[in-house]
Amino acid sequence: MYCVRNVTEDLYWVGANDHRLHLFENIHPIPRGVSYNAYLLLDEKTVLFDTVDWSVCRQLLENLEHLLGERPLDYLVINHMEPDHGASIEEILLRWPEVKVISTEKSFLFMRQFGFHVDDHELIEVKEGDTFSFGKHNVTFVAAPMVHWPEAMVTFDTTNGVLFSADAFGSFGALDGKLFADEVNFDRDWIDDARRYLTNIVGKYGPHIQLLLKKAGGILDQIKYICPLHGPVWRKDLGYFIDKYDKWSRYEPEEQGVLIAYASMYGNTEAAAQALATRLCEKGITNVWVYDVSNTHVSYLVSESFRLSHIVLASVTYNLGIYPVMHDFLAHLKGLNLQHRTFALMENGSWAPKSGDLMQKFIEDELKNMTVLGDRLSLASALRPDKAAELESLADAIVESMG
Ligand code: FEO
Repeated sequence: MYCVRNVTEDLYWVGANDHRLHLFENIHPIPRGVSYNAYLLLDEKTVLFDTVDWSVCRQLLENLEHLLGERPLDYLVINHMEPDHGASIEEILLRWPEVKVISTEKSFLFMRQFGFHVDDHELIEVKEGDTFSFGKHNVTFVAAPMVHWPEAMVTFDTTNGVLFSADAFGSFGALDGKLFADEVNFDRDWIDDARRYLTNIVGKYGPHIQLLLKKAGGILDQIKYICPLHGPVWRKDLGYFIDKYDKWSRYEPEEQGVLIAYASMYGNTEAAAQALATRLCEKGITNVWVYDVSNTHVSYLVSESFRLSHIVLASVTYNLGIYPVMHDFLAHLKGLNLQHRTFALMENGSWAPKSGDLMQKFIEDELKNMTVLGDRLSLASALRPDKAAELESLADAIVESMG
């Protein structure tokens, strides 16, 4: 059965939702599913903007057959060819062999690398600033390299102000009928998955997102709709989401608050983390979030690190090193280029506590533009009452640094 929705009077969402996939990119849990968005424009020419993951290709085809009826598909615009969007390109070409494919040079190169047989078809290579008319609708193509792959572009429909934004402004989470961000309580129910998507998938490329935002800034008053490849479409309060993207891509925290990530083998480091959280709350800092790195997927820790201004790492020493799961968390922060955070450290070790020095070295040597507070708390096996003054001093240092 077809499953489509109007975006505007002649533009349709023809994508699909997936609740079966457990791990996006085979690494990030998506308990609320994901949507693969594609859009069909019925102008004098018919135009499909992007395709979908192979797992939901059947739904895309049913949607297209329903809307096209006897009409041919004239153009296929590929803004982003990564297989979660591009995997169905060949199937489209098989069913509509006359379709003309519009994309970037690098995108066609990648299609060939992936083994897509595109060269028997008419390919139209476009670059930054090129324009095209489909009848009533005129579009401009805008390069968006590294948002999220180097071949990516976005397409702006200058006739009705629709921005096909590729991976930018996307979110984890299946739509389940609700296409528009204003049909859900985005700030309550979606923002965490939107942040987790952006920071884990494209977080490394903040400067490239900034470049795209700068280009969008020049035509901000003309953008009426943002149509991403995942998650809801934006037609109201665009500034809310653009502001989030701006903060995330500049690596600026959204909120003054404290993430306490602990690595604990027998519960003693965990108890110390809880004691610190309690002291902070008693001092009036209640935006405090405590996570066990061993049972929290790192994508959530990354997302919280982008949200909050302060990060406390509390780790046992393991094989004379940082607890491996904590080390993995730090490696993700490095890979995703997080900056401008204030760290505080708690270490534990029954005979040779090393994790504090090693975490400090990692932050100073491997991360950029970070501050590490000097009041490290060092535990020998467990936090005992004789350390109460040091705990107090660590909590005070965090409060003070929050200004
Ligand atoms: Fe949703 Fe970069 O692909």
